[in-house]
Amino acid sequence: MAGPGAAPGVILGIETSCDETAAALISTDGRILSNVVSSQADLHARYGGVVPEVASRRHLELVTPVVREALGQADAKLGDVELVGVTAGPGLIGALLVGVSAAKAIAWARRLPLAAVDHLQGHVASLYLEPASLEPPFLCLLASGGHTLLLDVQDRRGKPRVLGTTLDDAAGEAFDKGARLLGLGYPGGAEIDRLARAGDPEAYEFPVARMPELDFSFSGLKTALLYTVRKLRADELERRRADLAASYQRAIVRALAERTLQAAASSGARKIAVVGGVAANSELRRALPDAALAPLELCTDNAAMIASAARFAEAIPYPGYLGLDAYASTA
Ligand code: KG4
Ligand code: ZN
Repeated sequence: MAGPGAAPGVILGIETSCDETAAALISTDGRILSNVVSSQADLHARYGGVVPEVASRRHLELVTPVVREALGQADAKLGDVELVGVTAGPGLIGALLVGVSAAKAIAWARRLPLAAVDHLQGHVASLYLEPASLEPPFLCLLASGGHTLLLDVQDRRGKPRVLGTTLDDAAGEAFDKGARLLGLGYPGGAEIDRLARAGDPEAYEFPVARMPELDFSFSGLKTALLYTVRKLRADELERRRADLAASYQRAIVRALAERTLQAAASSGARKIAVVGGVAANSELRRALPDAALAPLELCTDNAAMIASAARFAEAIPYPGYLGLDAYASTA
């Protein structure tokens, strides 16, 4: 998305936590001036998942051209940037380090402050971008390849309270593993979403685990699909693939939507929001019609959401960030 010409005072966001190399420029009031995402999905597809070392090397090749492209599309220069925001974790450590090092170098060369952004808070901050900026408090379902969280978001700064989480696989992981069992490509969520449109969601009964409290569990569902697929001959699997995708997707969406509505009721939240890669799922979007949904291009990993979160993070002044480290997980 090209900006109308960037005014001085823009924020540069950089994201390299997994297999997307991304850079974006936003204005301090949350308008997206450019949002460049270079996906490495093709590179990892033949392995059926992200290979960390391959991802790090690719980030290294792409990070500078992607930042340059983001500046170009926004019609901005590095001199216009007043704050650099970068994902410091959680994610693949080698991949994160590439973005963190690039951000440090850019900020240090221009004596700019740097904000270390938590990737999950980045996903939540995808809701704070114009033109559909959402004001807390709200209940947020964050469903991605690595996480499934129900968050009580009271304000834009600080960490939201975790009301529920997955006890095993993340929702996106369930989509990806299911897609692999069905012989679909990687990443699997979008593939299942597409194929499910041609299938009958009632064709198969897959179990939706009901965990105590507000937690999720998806590993049993994946095993149920595995056993169902194993019983089918190759030609049957071919014929029933769309029905299997639709039924499997229905079970994941039902679990997510039910728990989210339940959490909203028990926490008294008046607004519900959905973010993360799985928020792109068309059936989930239909299942929560009153929720604020991150725009499609901001659901999967991008740097506009990281720049957005940088506005509400503690910026480290020059040159205090040179010792900043990335972290793989939030312990
Ligand atoms: O947020 P994201 O880009 O990366 C992480 O932070 O993990 O989420 C990626 C996940 C993948 O598991 C992918 O299969 C899933 O989001 N995903 C979808 C759809 N598009 C992406 N899942 C279901 N339906 C979709 N349309
Ligand atoms: Zn993500």
